Amino acid sequence: MAQIGTDIARARAFLEKGETVAIPTETVYGLAANALDTEAVARVFEVKNRPSFDPLIVHLSSKESATELCNDIPDLFYALYEAFCPGPLTFILPKSSRVPDLVTAGQPTVGIRFPEHPLCQSLLQELAFPLAAPSANPFGYVSPTSAEHVQQQLGQRIPYILDGGPCTVGLESTIIDLSHKVPVILRLGGLSLESIETVSGKIHLVKTSSSRPKAPGMLSSHYAPAKKVVFGNMKENYRIFKGKKLGSITFSRPVTGVPYEYQWILSPAGDLKEAARTLFKALRETDATDREVILAEQFPEEGLGRAINDRLKRAAVQ
Ligand code: TXA
Ligand code: MG
Repeated sequence: MAQIGTDIARARAFLEKGETVAIPTETVYGLAANALDTEAVARVFEVKNRPSFDPLIVHLSSKESATELCNDIPDLFYALYEAFCPGPLTFILPKSSRVPDLVTAGQPTVGIRFPEHPLCQSLLQELAFPLAAPSANPFGYVSPTSAEHVQQQLGQRIPYILDGGPCTVGLESTIIDLSHKVPVILRLGGLSLESIETVSGKIHLVKTSSSRPKAPGMLSSHYAPAKKVVFGNMKENYRIFKGKKLGSITFSRPVTGVPYEYQWILSPAGDLKEAARTLFKALRETDATDREVILAEQFPEEGLGRAINDRLKRAAVQ
């Protein structure tokens, strides 16, 4: 099993040797390696069982390093950076020749992000290279929001997990593509569309795709637990599945007919941020039960509710 600890020097030593280390961020835990070392990056794909057509996000500690890794940076990048970074926002920009093709899966663009988690920032500041890091879960499964989640699934394959406690955002970063004239959102996530639009003005959302999308985080089946999840109208779905062993995921209220111990009520206070923070833990917990079907309700289509609905929808595609 991997060692779990808060020792930055230890994490750094492994990374400098070209090994992969799990790192905390405010969104989800990442599986990190030296972004400029192709062999280290190859190991990330191997550990995660990730298809090589799926590019990695590069994590940076400062705006200055962005200019080394990216070309043609538009003004909107700086405006969004000032407003929301460090934080749960990833930028897609034209890549410079310093970024290995393996990191970007051969694409001419690279995803960069400035994590806010203090332990992650300290680590990045001590390193002489940026960190390529996808979420630290096997490809297609729910992202980890605690060190224990990483240990359960990847513990056998990595030497060290840097433990930064439970993630405070709990959803992956929002991805904005700034590599074309018109900016587009490729993935909804921990920073709401409404917040971004206060800076960018009205912005387009890219639709999900079932085959080979631009960002595989856009695959229609992704972020999925092993359980059968049914998303949508609770009453209707209850009627259809009521003969089965049921569990439920709801925003703030319980569901009649589902045993209370199998109900995951994400925020009894009705707070979307709290619901976002607890969603992935709930999805994982459903997998450890004998439930046959998990009924998930539609959340309010606003703020982080959009990203929650997006993840539940994909969790429901088998
Ligand atoms: O919050 C997050 O973004 C977390 C933490 C660890 O930073 N990372 C994360 O990485 O969610 P990952 O690899 O699980 O998801 C990154 C998504 C993928 O869907 C990938 O296809 C997309 O970002 N992506 C990365 N580089 C891209 C690029 N150049 N063009 C389009 N999409 C890109
Ligand atoms: Mg992922």
